[in-house]
This record gives sequence, C-alpha cells and structure tokens, in this order.
Amino acid sequence: MSYIDQIDKTRLPKHIAVIMDGNGRWAKQRNLDRTFGHKEGVSAVRRAIEGASRAEIPYLTLYTFSTENWKRPEEEVNALMALMIQAVANETPELVKNNIRVKVIGDIDRLPVATKEALDHCLQTTSVCTGTTVILALSYSSKWEITKALKDIVHDVGLGKLTDKEINEELIESHLSTKGIPNPDILVRTGGELRVSNFLLWQIAYSELYFTEELWPDFNEESLYRAIVDYQSRERRFGKTSEQISKKS
Ligand code: IPE
Ligand code: IPE
Ligand code: MG
Repeated sequence: MSYIDQIDKTRLPKHIAVIMDGNGRWAKQRNLDRTFGHKEGVSAVRRAIEGASRAEIPYLTLYTFSTENWKRPEEEVNALMALMIQAVANETPELVKNNIRVKVIGDIDRLPVATKEALDHCLQTTSVCTGTTVILALSYSSKWEITKALKDIVHDVGLGKLTDKEINEELIESHLSTKGIPNPDILVRTGGELRVSNFLLWQIAYSELYFTEELWPDFNEESLYRAIVDYQSRERRFGKTSEQISKKS
C-alpha cells in the first residue's frame, strides 16, 4: 500500500520545506564526481514536486543553494549554476502542464546572469499557474534574509514611514522573502544530518522536524508521502496542553 493512501486529506500540511542534502555522498558511494549526484538530485526534485502536486500541497520550498554554498570549490559552484540553467529549461514545460508556479527566494543578484535569465523565464512562464507553488531557496540563508528585513525596517523608520511602536511579529514577517506564504508545517531534511543549516530560522519556529537518512537523489514520491504521514501522527500543541488541543477537536 502506498503511503499516499494513508494521508488524511483533511489535515494536509499547507507548506513543506525541504533541505535536499546528500547529493555528494550519493555520488561518492558510486565513485562518481559530486556533479553526478547533483544531476541525479534534479530528478529527485522532479519527483518531489510531482508528489507535492499530486498530494495537493499548496507550498513546497526547496533549499537549492545556500549562501554558505558559495564557499564550495569553484568548479562545483559553476557546475551547479550550469545545471540549474539546464534543469529549469527542461522542466518548465512540464511545470506549466502540471499547473505549478515557481517562486525564488534568496540573494538572486549573486547568481550568474545566464542562471538568472533562465530562472526569470521560468518564473514568468509559470506565474499564471494556480496549483502547487514551488519556492526555490537560491543563494539563500536565513541570517541574510533577517538582516535584509532589519535593514529595510530601519530604512522605513528613518524615512518616517514607520515608528518603532509599529514593529511587531507581523511587520517583521512582511519584510521576509516568504511574505504571504504560510510558515512551513514540516521541515524535511534528507542525508542524515541533524541540523537546519541557516534555513528559514524564523519561519520554522513551530514546524515539525523530519529527518531521514535517505540521500536526496534517492528521494521519491513515497518518501514525501511517508513524511506527510509521519507529520500527521504528531500533535501540534503550540505551547498549549494536550488536553486543550483534544478538547478543540
Ligand atoms: C546537497 O547535497 C546539494 C547542495 C548543497 C547544493 P550536498 O552536495 O551537500 O551533498 P553531501 O552533503 O556532500 O552528500
Ligand atoms: C544545506 O546543505 C544547503 C542545501 C541543501 C542547499 P549543506 O550540505 O550545504 O549543509 P551543511 O553545510 O552540511 O550543513
Ligand atoms: Mg551536504
């Protein structure tokens, strides 16, 4: 029986965030260059998107390239940037067919022009789609995002558009790149590491964490459905007691 049959459609997560880790190790296990792991990772991205779309998950955020990843060897960074161009061009028609809208969060200005152009084309082409929204976190880190939000708020205060009394959680959220997007209900990390690596630190304040040993290139629809089923077995208390939660339902 597929895990999809065990999913309670009335309690679907609205937003799943994924740290796609383990491409390098997947390649190493096969005596291949890390780049092969990244290529295989693109197929896993396709499966994750299709799985989220089939399960009718409104938002799927994929940690694709972190601010810290710029510190990797130049050849690997270049290979990843080139792979992105290829992947985005290949996948866009299928994304449109599946009614998937793509968004990007991160410091996009650091990307090479050709990568940015390929992405822009994909963002524009899919902007009319109304199904699952896929958010690619690219050249992204949470500390970068929060620093930027803080600068923008201080700027507005300086201009007199805002007073310090108006600074609250909602205002801060409205300055994050995830503005308007519900916080992730579940954060998935593949590859076995038990850390969040500067990803959506504000937004995952109350997310359910799900770690799997599975390496990203091995991830498939079933892996995603399994994570959703696990998520649905949790009791989210948001600081309340279990009794308060069960009384409500
Ligand atoms: C994740 O896989 C992909 C990116 C960070 C771009 P890794 O490349 O980190 O794979 P491992 O962790 O070395 O196995
Ligand atoms: C996290 O993976 C970033 C992405 C998946 C894009 P890393 O492999 O870069 O994470 P660390 O540095 O090992 O924590
Ligand atoms: Mg890694």
